[in-house]
Order: sequence, then structure tokens, then C-alpha cells
Amino acid sequence: MKIIEVKDYMEMSQKAAEYIIEKVCNQPNIKLGMATGGTPVGMYKKLVEDHQKNGTSYKKVMTFNLDEYIGLNGDNKNSYRYYMNENLFNHIDIDKKRNTFIPRGDIKDYNEECLRYEDLIDKHGGVDVQILGIGNNGHIGFNEPGTSFQSVTHVVNLASSTIQANARFFERMEEVPTQAITMGISTIMRSKEILLLVSGESKNQALHSLLNGEITESFPASILKNHPCVTIIADKAAIAGLKIHI
Ligand code: F6R
Repeated sequence: MKIIEVKDYMEMSQKAAEYIIEKVCNQPNIKLGMATGGTPVGMYKKLVEDHQKNGTSYKKVMTFNLDEYIGLNGDNKNSYRYYMNENLFNHIDIDKKRNTFIPRGDIKDYNEECLRYEDLIDKHGGVDVQILGIGNNGHIGFNEPGTSFQSVTHVVNLASSTIQANARFFERMEEVPTQAITMGISTIMRSKEILLLVSGESKNQALHSLLNGEITESFPASILKNHPCVTIIADKAAIAGLKIHI
């Protein structure tokens, strides 16, 4: 794993955007794995700025999001489809209809949707660069502690700590979804490269466990140590006090 230490959230977002822009310029038909949540918002903003200023084109890029809440359709402002449209897709020249994929949280047969999504990723040759954030409990995607490292796209019951953490985006606690569809750990591990973004003091413990702890299903992100090509961009607050033994 390669670790890039940056000053703060702004610099993390800038560096991450530069990383993605370089990949897109070198491989215009790249398949990007997208994350949502608070961490990548700044990176998406920088990608939009770059597109407007320098014209980096996403016409041939395909995207596959990690996860989606069950029960929310794409028009719901808390759905990850809405988030992606608002933060990125509506502001760049990507073919939103044909080239952006997110699990559907609003259909009846979720298990069927999981199979379809896993198959869709494979059919397109797999993800080239997967962007990830990390949960305080070590989740990646919505793979909560205890998820099998062999898992593929599946339905999850969100951990109560994750529901609490997500509550900040909803007006009322009852509105916070308790289930999601997520790429599995093995889906994530099949991507050719991984870019993990970590920012803030609240992620310090998670980063510590990732870098210095053992590889265990109790801390899902720990599996990333077995991936051949992981880059972590972490800010000072997230890294503070860490002795790194990789
Ligand atoms: C988002 C996702 C999650 C988040 C994680 C961190 O698509 O799959 O794993 O990356 O919960 O969230 P933030 O960035 O809000 O701290």
C-alpha cells in the first residue's frame, strides 16, 4: 500500500482529483468505481472544476457505484443516485443514462438486483480504479464487520453505528434507511486499483486499525492489505500519531 500524506481535506480532495484526472486522460474508457458519503464530495467538486476549466472528458468513462440504500428511488435526495447526479454527473460530459451504474434500491427483487449488478460489472471487464472511503468501524462499501471476504454484491442490514453516522443527512431518524445493496468485499478486491481517501480525526482509529491491525473479517478494510495496488490519501488529522507498519 502506498500512503500519500496531505495537509487537510482540501489537499486530499485536490490530490485525489489529480489522481483520477490522470487516469481518465491516460485511459478515456476507464471504468471507475465510485463512493459516496462525506469524504469524496471535495474530490468530485475538483473534478467538476477541472472539467469546466480544462475540458477533461468523461464521454467514454463508465462508473459503477459501491452501494445504494434500499427503499429510496433515484429522485429521493438521500439516494446515492441523487448524490452522484448532484455532485458529479450533472456537471460533466458523462453519458449519465448509458454509462453510470448504481444498484437500484427501489425495485422489488433485491436479490435479483444484486446478481444483475455483479454480472454487469463483470460483463464490462471489471472496475479499473475503485474509490473508497472508510467507516469508523472499518466498513468499505456497506460491508459491515463480519462480512465474508468472499462476498459479492448483496443486501446488508446496516450496523447501528452506520445508521447513526448517516443520520446527519436525514431530517428525521425514522427516515434513515436500515438496509442497502452493496458491492461485496470480493467485488471490491477484484478492481485493478484502489484509491482510499481518509480525512479527519474521527477516522484516526480506523486508519490505525487498517495499517497496524491484523487482516480479519471483523475489520473489513483490513483485506485491502492483500490487494496489489492500493493508494491511500490521508490528511494529517487522520494520520496523527500513527506508527505505520505495513
Ligand atoms: C459510501 C460508502 C461508505 C463510506 C463510508 C465513509 O459509498 O460505501 O463505505 O465511504 O461510510 O463515509 P464518510 O465519507 O461519510 O465518512
